[in-house]
Amino acid sequence: MDCIWKILFFSLLTFDRQGEVLTGHFWHITDLHWDPTYSLANGNSQSVCTSSGNRPTPHAGKFGDYLCDSPWNLINSSLSAMRDILPDPDFIIWTGDDTPHVPNEDLGEEAVLNIIGNLTHTLKELFPYTKVYSALGNHDYHPKNQLPPEQNLIYEQTQKMWERWLDPPSRDTYKRGGYYTEKLLNQTGFRVLVLNTNLYYNQNKVTENLSDPADQFRWADRVLTEAAKANEKVYIIGHVPPGFFEKKRHKPWFQPEFNKHYVDLIQKHHDIITGQFFGHHHTDSFRMFYSTSGSPISVMFLTPGVTPWKTTLPGVVDGANNPGIRVFEYDAKTLLVKDMVTYYLNLTHANIAGPRWEKEYRLTEAFRVPDGSPASMHRVLERIANDNCYLQKYYGFNSVNYDLSVCDADCRIDHVCSMREVDFQAYERCVEKEGASSTAPAPLTVALAAVLGTWASYKHF
Ligand SMILES: *[C@@H]1O[C@H](CO)[C@@H](O)[C@H](O)[C@H]1NC(C)=O
Ligand SMILES: *[C@@H]1O[C@H](CO)[C@@H](O)[C@H](O)[C@H]1NC(C)=O
Ligand SMILES: *[C@@H]1O[C@H](CO)[C@@H](O)[C@H](O)[C@H]1NC(C)=O
Ligand SMILES: *[C@@H]1O[C@H](CO)[C@@H](O)[C@H](O)[C@H]1NC(C)=O
Ligand SMILES: *[C@@H]1O[C@H](CO)[C@@H](O)[C@H](O)[C@H]1NC(C)=O
Ligand SMILES: [Zn+2]
Ligand SMILES: [Zn+2]
Repeated sequence: MDCIWKILFFSLLTFDRQGEVLTGHFWHITDLHWDPTYSLANGNSQSVCTSSGNRPTPHAGKFGDYLCDSPWNLINSSLSAMRDILPDPDFIIWTGDDTPHVPNEDLGEEAVLNIIGNLTHTLKELFPYTKVYSALGNHDYHPKNQLPPEQNLIYEQTQKMWERWLDPPSRDTYKRGGYYTEKLLNQTGFRVLVLNTNLYYNQNKVTENLSDPADQFRWADRVLTEAAKANEKVYIIGHVPPGFFEKKRHKPWFQPEFNKHYVDLIQKHHDIITGQFFGHHHTDSFRMFYSTSGSPISVMFLTPGVTPWKTTLPGVVDGANNPGIRVFEYDAKTLLVKDMVTYYLNLTHANIAGPRWEKEYRLTEAFRVPDGSPASMHRVLERIANDNCYLQKYYGFNSVNYDLSVCDADCRIDHVCSMREVDFQAYERCVEKEGASSTAPAPLTVALAAVLGTWASYKHF
């Protein structure tokens, strides 16, 4: 009752703000993880795809399986859906991870390059006139995760594939370190930084003892300092995000020093950073950045993946997702994120009845905020943290409507603390504090969780 009342009340209050300012649109897609071995013709349910790692896939269908990375039909369907929904975006952000989750021995440098090459071609065919800002993911290298802090064949070859999308000065830093900056759409006053945060990934052995791999932090600090002098607004794009995985407690991706360095960079330059867009989680979430005095200063949006692949990360329960793609709406004068709309494919339904890409939700409608600014996203987070209706709604979105079970007290802490605190120590303090306060939940919360729990157990067993 409580939840429904809020939704109705909000729809009465919704009003049209179109036309007030010029609104631009861009796509963000990430984690396509194409598995070229996926084939139903393999016949036996043990070996539909290599990426299932021998987990049986009795429900595998034409558009994929929750235990597998994306078959070609899913890739094609996602990219075609982008063209059908918004064929002429201002630009596209593509944040990497194109290859399947398989042992290194099953891939190799050439296979990795062929996969990235095919997806690049396909995207160019579908969006021949659209600028694409493309970041490498930790799976876009061989051996996986080991992206080096210097020039190598993969940076060289992807630079060639993406040449059309890169301004000439971008090509040098990209070849050396997999990162670049340029004016956003060549417009005065707007800038984009594409980072190679795979250099900070704690699985990357090549960079583990370096203080500033590929000189990227020093470079970013300089670029942002100059951008501020030039009155520019900046979007930051990357694959592996700092902070923690919301589906596994105490699970960070960055090495500690790199995490700290990243947070410092954002705190120093937040005035001109109007959005950060990352992937890697395959889930839908976001990360808040606060000033030392606690005001919201920046947001990192984590866009869900196209691959439905259920993670094998120990400790994550049922970590699959439906394929998702996302449109951002932004103020073309200030780069403020005005809204975002996530579209998804119900994979189960697609395999039964054909692919149907549906709108999953619009940020401002689902969370009753005016836009995607840091202040608004702080309100979204407070609603999720303090109101079970919003927590449940967010939790469904987190797996793109795959896992509609109840997010219990521990789950709430994992999600809320990972969204609220990117800094390692602050996250640990949050987990401790929220854990202490959640031992005595409000009676209404308990009642609601019980009702939802009963409903969920009927639904699933
Ligand atoms: C890709 O998808 C489009 C649109 O759904 C379809 O017309 C086309 O046949 C597909 N191509 C392949 C190679 O699957
Ligand atoms: C990419 O691979 C798919 C599936 O093998 C194939 O149908 C398609 O033609 C390839 N596209 C390009 C541009 O290489
Ligand atoms: C960007 O704009 C400048 C002048 O404003 C122009 O000289 C240059 O050719 C443009 N570059 C691209 C890649 O369009
Ligand atoms: C980093 O330092 C550790 C400890 O000294 C050492 O075991 C490791 O081999 C070093 N890694 C690299 C890539 O040099
Ligand atoms: C997805 O489709 C399946 C099969 O039609 C259906 O049972 C399920 O409820 C759908 N999920 C959502 C979130 O709509
Ligand atoms: Zn991925
Ligand atoms: Zn990744």
